[in-house]
Amino acid sequence: MSSTKSLEYKNASLNGTITVPGDKSISHRSVMFGSIAEGKTTVSGFLLGEDCLSTIDCFRKLGVEIDVEGTNVTIQSPGIDNWEEPKEVLYTGNSGTTTRLMLGILSGTDLHTVMTGDASIGKRPMRRVADPLRLMGANIAGRENGQYTPLAIQGTKLKAIDYTMPVASAQVKSAILLAGLRAEGTTIVREKEVSRDHTERMLKQFGATIEVNEGVVSFEGGQQLQATHVNVPGDISSAAFFLVAGAIVPDSEVVMQNVGVNPTRAGIIEVLEKMGAELSVVVDDLNAAEPTATLTIRTSNLKATTIEGEIIPRLIDEIPIIALLATQAEGTTIIRDAEELKVKETDRITAVVTELQKLGANIEATEDGMIIHGPTKLHGAKLQSYGDHRIGMMSAIAALISSSPIEIDDTDCIAVSYPTFFEHVENLLKNS
Ligand code: S3P
Repeated sequence: MSSTKSLEYKNASLNGTITVPGDKSISHRSVMFGSIAEGKTTVSGFLLGEDCLSTIDCFRKLGVEIDVEGTNVTIQSPGIDNWEEPKEVLYTGNSGTTTRLMLGILSGTDLHTVMTGDASIGKRPMRRVADPLRLMGANIAGRENGQYTPLAIQGTKLKAIDYTMPVASAQVKSAILLAGLRAEGTTIVREKEVSRDHTERMLKQFGATIEVNEGVVSFEGGQQLQATHVNVPGDISSAAFFLVAGAIVPDSEVVMQNVGVNPTRAGIIEVLEKMGAELSVVVDDLNAAEPTATLTIRTSNLKATTIEGEIIPRLIDEIPIIALLATQAEGTTIIRDAEELKVKETDRITAVVTELQKLGANIEATEDGMIIHGPTKLHGAKLQSYGDHRIGMMSAIAALISSSPIEIDDTDCIAVSYPTFFEHVENLLKNS
């Protein structure tokens, strides 16, 4: 049920250290891989967001034992060959990653499964995954020839494909690779622009051999995954909200430790640096399975920039909050090549532009992005989150610099990726 919040932060400044919750993409994958592998996998730093809890719920219905204690998760699996045929529909909630990656995993089992999610999932395109999986031999049925949930999968034996990705999407790439695990032959995925590579990294962590060379991933089918331990770093997509807040809220200094800085995810760091932000990045261990860093951001004088091309997949989820950042930068910021935003939890081009305009921002939508003229002073307004966690958080951060209160219609959706978001805002305000 939705909860309206009215936010008024007079003369706000943010100071202190926070630990952002675990990475959503890596948390999902830890449960998926730990469920495929026979035996006991342990996970630390797991994100207790609703999306990742949906993934856990689906695997429990497949007969995998999963215990959650704080942010530690223990997965005891009979292995993918011994999963149970679920008696119930697998409910993936708001989670595109769960729905798409599971489509790849389930296609190569010998089980009949049905998956569905919430109203937003029901509008998100699934043929981008179903079509390549069908080329591998998968049996997938769904509304509009497999485009929309509910999806019914009759698992079968798969054969490998050599697939060139039409869009940069880690979800599509990962679904094909996970299907490839069960397929006969070598699965090859070719990317024009590199998308997040958590699946490739985690396959290695679980003992698989996978080759990655200049945008071409090759992977031999029939490999067995070995249960292991996964340490989930903090989510840079969650840190992004406080990186921007620290840069635009007066007299602020925010420190975040243990944030994942995998180069295929860390585009926002490059953008902040290009815009002149006072940001320090101290990397802990670049050779870790997933590298982490301590990020420190201070109130900054920002200048506009252009964001386009290969960087887009490396910051796709951060564009709503980058748009807010650009409203406070001197000059014209252009974001292009980002039409993928239209098929996220909501149409994020329309949502960002509509909501920031309500606050007085000088921003216009384009076919594949947006143009923002800054700096502008923002005022209060009644905003909609569209049930999209990242639009809800962008609006809440805007309230830290708006001259009058901002009301947001539904903030419950923020729990999808950052359940402690408002707690962290309050903690940083208290220190000032
Ligand atoms: C994700 C990949 C991205 C991202 C999403 C999570 C993942 O989606 O937007 O939030 O975990 O693989 P696409 O792969 O569809 O671009």
